[in-house]
Amino acid sequence: MLSKEDNELLTRVSNGAPMGRMLKQHWWIPAAVSEKLVADGAPQRVRLFGENYVAFRATDGKVGFFDEACPHRGASMALARNEDNALRCIYHGWKFTVEGVTVEVPTQPQNEAEYCKHVPLKHFPVREEAGVVWVWLGEGDTPPKFQNFAFVGLPSANVVAYRQKVKCNWLQGVETTMDSAHLGVLHQSWLVSSIANASVNQAPVYHLVQKPYGFRYAAVRELPNGRSYVRTNAFVLPWYGVISPRRAEDRTRGAMFFSVPIDDENTWYWHISFVTDGEVPYDPYFHPSDRNNWPPATPGTPENNWGQDRDAMRRGHFTGFPQSLGTEDFAVIESMGAIVDRSKEFLGAGDGAVVQVRRGLMAAVREFMEGKTPAFAKHEEIDYAAIRPISGEFDDDTQWKETL
Ligand code: FES
Ligand SMILES: [Fe+2]
Repeated sequence: MLSKEDNELLTRVSNGAPMGRMLKQHWWIPAAVSEKLVADGAPQRVRLFGENYVAFRATDGKVGFFDEACPHRGASMALARNEDNALRCIYHGWKFTVEGVTVEVPTQPQNEAEYCKHVPLKHFPVREEAGVVWVWLGEGDTPPKFQNFAFVGLPSANVVAYRQKVKCNWLQGVETTMDSAHLGVLHQSWLVSSIANASVNQAPVYHLVQKPYGFRYAAVRELPNGRSYVRTNAFVLPWYGVISPRRAEDRTRGAMFFSVPIDDENTWYWHISFVTDGEVPYDPYFHPSDRNNWPPATPGTPENNWGQDRDAMRRGHFTGFPQSLGTEDFAVIESMGAIVDRSKEFLGAGDGAVVQVRRGLMAAVREFMEGKTPAFAKHEEIDYAAIRPISGEFDDDTQWKETL
């Protein structure tokens, strides 16, 4: 349970809210699907933290990232011409290079070059990794170090990223990523069909360890054969869930889920799947034809209970969302309301990881408000590539504890 004030501090990211300013200052933000940006193609609108931007791929393949509003009089740069490594606003023809330099102001026949130097175009540094455009939206000239997750630098065949828009606050997305207790309940029909080990349905015992990047935990289930079935996950601030592989032998595979604020009440729920030593095997479920729309079944609305299928439930499906586990997650987190009131909740033993997510974010935003760099944002001191969750059966506790 949180006070209403703490809930506001944790969830609000727009209009200069401290959490939004901290996230923009100290982390690179996943902003767009790379393949949606075609050289000299249409600029894409990007909305993050309640602000509107455009991203475009220039003639030479580089990505530019500007405020959506033209610095002249505010026409949308999503309408702009994309040519000659630049965007040209269609209203009065002002032209801006991919690096953010104003090069033409045709409405200023005298002193054009000098005038160009003073046009206040807002452009932002970008980087492409894992088929995703990441942007730094902070103040000043020095972006933070990019978090060197294990997918960084992999060939494009080894990593796939996709996302879905969800109509609720970003923290509800982050919390469901780390809420291991819901796996054996909400996703039980999916689990039975995809993981052979039936014991995953049994309530696990959690072991949680604090880390410089957030925390890591193991969910441990005793098996009838006297061994333990263990899955470890990590939470990396500000929103990354690094999830254990489905099978013990998949040691070179990785999966991450993360929830990025579009504004206070809308979120991009992302998934990245990668293999460090080979191609990601093709799976229609994990390779949506439209990477902005995963899973392909668009979430429903409150009016139709998000498309819940009561006939499927009568036939044995637990939730009535047989399309995918993503649909199950999106339905429940949207059903909590746009921003859930955490002063009214009633937490128990299964909510330990969720509580730790909140503590980490709260500590970070408080440090930021005191003018400090949050301890969790000291990226140069952390080897993110080394965070590799595991799953499997173990004879004794020392074996998996070594991996935490
Ligand atoms: S509004 Fe863009 S050039 Fe005038
Ligand atoms: Fe889930």
